[in-house]
Amino acid sequence: MPTVEQIREALRVVIDPELHRSIVELDMVRRIDLGPDGEVAVTVSLTTAGCPIRGHFQGAVRDAVMSLGGVRTVSVDFDVLDEQQKVALRATLGRSELPEGALAQVENVICIGSGKGGVGKSTLTANLAAALRAEGRRVGVLDADVWGYSIPRMLGLGAQRPSVSAERKIIPLDAGGIAVMSIGFFVEEDAAVVWRGPMLHKALKQFLEDVEWGALDFLLIDLPPGTGDVSMTLAQLLPMATFVIVTTPQAAAQRVARRSAEMASKVSLEISGVIENMSSFVTPSGERYAIFGEGGGQALATELDVPLLASVPLTMPLREQSDAGLPLVASDPDDPAAQAIRHAARGLIALAPPPRPRALAPVGMALPMAG
Ligand SMILES: Nc1ncnc2c1ncn2[C@@H]1O[C@H](COP(=O)(O)OP(=O)(O)OP(=O)(O)O)[C@@H](O)[C@H]1O
Ligand SMILES: [Mg+2]
Repeated sequence: MPTVEQIREALRVVIDPELHRSIVELDMVRRIDLGPDGEVAVTVSLTTAGCPIRGHFQGAVRDAVMSLGGVRTVSVDFDVLDEQQKVALRATLGRSELPEGALAQVENVICIGSGKGGVGKSTLTANLAAALRAEGRRVGVLDADVWGYSIPRMLGLGAQRPSVSAERKIIPLDAGGIAVMSIGFFVEEDAAVVWRGPMLHKALKQFLEDVEWGALDFLLIDLPPGTGDVSMTLAQLLPMATFVIVTTPQAAAQRVARRSAEMASKVSLEISGVIENMSSFVTPSGERYAIFGEGGGQALATELDVPLLASVPLTMPLREQSDAGLPLVASDPDDPAAQAIRHAARGLIALAPPPRPRALAPVGMALPMAG
């Protein structure tokens, strides 16, 4: 019969598939109990109760313990990391939160994400920003799609470059009253940007810390597709952020979108709602075609128990205006897609918690962004 220490050592091979580290190293092995006849009971602490990868841990823990001689049965139980343990986990991952005071004047941070690419995250981010602006809110957009940035084009910011203030802070560019920051402002147009973990983390951190965002009601963050490094990093830097998940009406897309919801819950970010995009197409004579199927957005919202903020139809002007660099919400607020996005923006305003008491002016390291 192996000892508790031997079992703990054996569990080093069990890797958290999302954090890419061993559960022993992450201090997620809460208890190991031995019975008299070769029974082993292991309790693993998860980041969230609804963790989608329980099954993975169950199998991997059992296999690892069974590989030791003298073990007859293995039972695997789960509990949830408490707040303190989550803080310790973040520290183990070597990724701190932002310094006290950074983004102190930003009331709401909303990440726009999706499981898969091309569902309209960037288009919706740009237009939601314009819609929130039209509602009289102070808005910023951070383009966190460091590989496939498209916000500069969609908001008509071509060749401009941000300047650096006397306090050595980067001044966001202005697009019709929206403060905008993108990696696209710092690289040659269409140049491929290669980012790896630590650099990516540093770049995103700078975008939050060293950019003079000023006082904002909403900072919208356009995420790259998928559930990767960027979402993880942002979630760690911005524990107060919420998620809006974009999906198309297709059942398959909804399944993929659910993965990004699981990611959000894994890093304990709240999901504030779902936006269904590319809902249907209405011909000039009024015929309605559900090109990408129907009902996926509502189904996902119901499953996640969050509101469906809008169903945005496919319209030509939405695509054309995105390409032209002027949000449709600003140029033609009555277009059906623009109306739906304005509806979603009002939903975000309604969901936003009442303003926090004002903190002091933000402090932070003043490093200029490398060119
Ligand atoms: N409702 C819509 N009607 C018409 N065209 C749309 C609509 N939503 C998005 N598009 C178009 O679809 C394309 C993809 O949209 P967008 O770039 O916003 O998606 P994305 O999710 O940000 O993609 P990526 O995952 O690559 O970042 C764009 O050309 C955009 O103009
Ligand atoms: Mg995009």
